[in-house]
Amino acid sequence: MKIGIIGCGTIAHSAHIPSYMANPKAQIKYFCDIIPERAEDAVKKYGCGIAVTDYKEVLADPEVTAVSVCTPNLMHSVIAIAALEAGKHVLCEKPAARIYEEALAMQEAQKRTGKILNIGVVNRFNTNVNKLKEMIDNGDFGEVYYVYVSFRAHRSIPGLGGAFTTKAIAGGGALIDWGVHFLDIVMYCCGDPKAKTVSAETFSKLGNPICDYVYKDSWAHEPIHDGIYDVEEGVTGIVRTEGPVINVNGAWAQNIGEREMFIDFIGTKGGARLQYGKDFTFYSTKNGMLTSTTFVNKSAPMFQAEIDGFIDCIETGKKLPSNIDYNILTSQMMDAIYRSAELHEEVKL
Ligand SMILES: NC(=O)c1ccc[n+]([C@@H]2O[C@H](COP(=O)([O-])OP(=O)(O)OC[C@H]3O[C@@H](n4cnc5c(N)ncnc54)[C@H](O)[C@@H]3O)[C@@H](O)[C@H]2O)c1
Repeated sequence: MKIGIIGCGTIAHSAHIPSYMANPKAQIKYFCDIIPERAEDAVKKYGCGIAVTDYKEVLADPEVTAVSVCTPNLMHSVIAIAALEAGKHVLCEKPAARIYEEALAMQEAQKRTGKILNIGVVNRFNTNVNKLKEMIDNGDFGEVYYVYVSFRAHRSIPGLGGAFTTKAIAGGGALIDWGVHFLDIVMYCCGDPKAKTVSAETFSKLGNPICDYVYKDSWAHEPIHDGIYDVEEGVTGIVRTEGPVINVNGAWAQNIGEREMFIDFIGTKGGARLQYGKDFTFYSTKNGMLTSTTFVNKSAPMFQAEIDGFIDCIETGKKLPSNIDYNILTSQMMDAIYRSAELHEEVKL
C-alpha cells in the first residue's frame, strides 16, 4: 500500500513515518513538505520515497492509496478534503481542524467520497485508556456522572509568538492543542455523549506582552518578541452532556507549582484517576471497606496501533474509534467552549 506523508515535521518523524516503516503492508512513496530540505532529508534518512513540495503531486498519483496529514492545523481541512476527493484514504493529525465548520466539511467530504477519514486521536489506541473504558462498560464504576479534567502546566506556552499561538494557524490555544486529547479520552471512555450545554471562560493573561513573559519551558521554540499571541493559554468550563457532566480545567501556563495531567472519572460505584499517558487507580468499596487499586499495564506503542489500525481498516472497511464521526462531537464541544467564552454566557447545543 503506497503512502504519502504530507508535512515532515515533529509528529511525522516521531510517530507516523516510523510506524508506517514498521508495517509490512505499507510503503512510503512520498515525503511532502513546503520546506524542500525537510522532504529531502526524510528521503535520505529513511532511504525510500520521493521528495515533493506540493501535496497535489502526491494526490495526483493513482498509486497512492492513503496519506497522513501532519501539517499545522491550518491546512488539515484543505488537504484532507482534497485527498478524499482524489480518492485517497486519510489519517489527519489532531485536532481535526481549526474550527467546527472545517471539521464538518471534512466529515461531509468523507461521506461523499466513501473513503476513510480518521483523526489522530491516538489515546483511543492506548492500552490503559482501553482498560479503563472496559471497566466503565462492564459497570464497575456504576453510573459515571461526573468527570474532572485537568491539564495544567507551570508557564509552558509553546513557542509564544509562533504558529501555536496564532489563531489563524492553530485555531486556538491550550484547549485545541492539549484539551483535544483529554476531552477525546473522556468522550471515548464515556461512549461519545453529545454535549448539551456549555459554560466556559478562556484566559490569555500571561503571554502579553511577549517580551515580558517569564517561562519554565517553551517546548516548540523560543518566544518571538514581535510575533502573534491571540489564543488562550488557559480554559475552564462545565459541559453538560447526554452522559456525565465534564469539568474542564486546562492551561499551557498558570502560576502553579506542579503540572497536573489527569482525568478523574467519578461513578456511583467507583471512580478512577487516569494519569495522562500513564496508569490509573480505581477507588471503590468492598465488604464495607474502602479499596484502591492501581492498574499497571505495559501500554502497547499507541502510534503504531493507530497506523496499523488505519492500514487494517483500509483493507477491511472496519470503522475505528478514531473515525471522524466520533471526533466531530469533540470538535463541536470545543467550538461551544470557545463560543461560550467569547459570549461570557452559557451556550446551548
Ligand atoms: N498526536 C499528537 O500527540 C500530536 C503531537 C504533536 C503534534 N500533533 C499535530 O500534528 C500536526 C503537526 O504538528 P508538528 O508538531 O509536527 O508541526 P511541525 O511544525 O513540526 O511540522 C509541520 C510540518 O508541516 C509542513 N507544512 C506546512 N504546510 C504544509 C503544506 N501545505 N504542505 C506540506 N507540508 C506543510 C511544515 O513545513 C512542517 O515541516 C499539528 O496539527 C499538531 O497538532 C499531534
